[in-house]
Amino acid sequence: MQPIEIAKGIYDVGVKDWNIRDFHGYSTYQGTTYNAFLIVDEKVALIDTVKKEFADQMLDNIARIIDPKKIDLVVSNHTEMDHSGGLPRVMHRIGEDKPLYCSQMGARNLKQHFFPNWNYQPVKNGEELSLGSRTLTFLETRMLHWPDSMFTYLKEDKILFSSDAFGQHYAGPENFDDEIGDKIMPHAKKYYANILLLYAAKTLKLLEKITEMGLEFNMICPDHGIIWRKDIPKIIDAYVRWSQQAAKNKALVIYDTMWHSTAAMAEAITGGLAAAGVYAIPMDLRHVHRSDIMTEVLDARAVVVGSPTLNNNLFPTVSDFLTYMKGLKPHNKIGAAFGSYGWSGEAVKQITEELKGMKFEMVEPGMRVQYVPDKDTLQACEDFGRKIAEAMQA
Ligand code: FEO
Repeated sequence: MQPIEIAKGIYDVGVKDWNIRDFHGYSTYQGTTYNAFLIVDEKVALIDTVKKEFADQMLDNIARIIDPKKIDLVVSNHTEMDHSGGLPRVMHRIGEDKPLYCSQMGARNLKQHFFPNWNYQPVKNGEELSLGSRTLTFLETRMLHWPDSMFTYLKEDKILFSSDAFGQHYAGPENFDDEIGDKIMPHAKKYYANILLLYAAKTLKLLEKITEMGLEFNMICPDHGIIWRKDIPKIIDAYVRWSQQAAKNKALVIYDTMWHSTAAMAEAITGGLAAAGVYAIPMDLRHVHRSDIMTEVLDARAVVVGSPTLNNNLFPTVSDFLTYMKGLKPHNKIGAAFGSYGWSGEAVKQITEELKGMKFEMVEPGMRVQYVPDKDTLQACEDFGRKIAEAMQA
């Protein structure tokens, strides 16, 4: 990627990672980008870096604008290594004594990741730093989504460098929202559902605080994906909606199967939900990635989970999904469990306990079938779907 001048004297010097398909367990079918920003003022500032293996590519991008040695200071908004991995190369190139601005937690975390003796300049929430004609304001966003996370706001240009927030795992020829249009929204939703959902309450508070502060934005520059400049309210409103976890009349029937009995149950339950007017989708864990399912969970009202019993336990893909979903803490869900079994049949009880632990409102008892469901049993599964639909309307 060439450096892009996003505003006068301000450049995206990041890189596009076209080929990544798994970002720590999140499927990235269209790659991602690691955005980093260079502000050329009386002082030259670099905001964030890129993944370690792309550090030289980023330095080449910078070199097309200025000699990297002329960078006066670096800002690290977030310690996670997709944004800090390039720091050792950058600091070595520009001079290890150059100031490195970060949050208090950022200083602690960067020391634990990298070099303990860099010239750390921990900043407080609201602290400002003049670059000459421009001013950076640092805004702590602790636990959004790491303890070290912060935003950097460029006051005169009204540009927010928002770290992971408002990002999307998407690499394409487009660089701005007006170049891609609504096609970017599913990527933004997936990013929110898989990275930020567990901090929904904090996200809402932060958005309220930003509104109270009266901050205006000409541009929001996340560290992943496209930059928002045309329709900024669209992504902010979406974040409010997603953080409120407002549910649609939508149910997911998530399952795995060994000999197609649990799959047949899933079809029948989905049919019962659909017959009751619910937008119902069966999702086979062997064919749909956990991160895509989580994107659908975000605005689903009911999450129905099915598993055969394997060696007295859940099927491994179902355990994997439940663990993943539990960590992301979705709220406001109705849950239900189902599954086939041979002789012991613990899976339905185990799913029920897991979903109760996530504070789902359960439709009980769950649906268990020994060996292969017959016509009457499939009818009972369909009725179970209707019962779940009734609970959704209650
Ligand atoms: Fe894109 Fe939390 O790192």
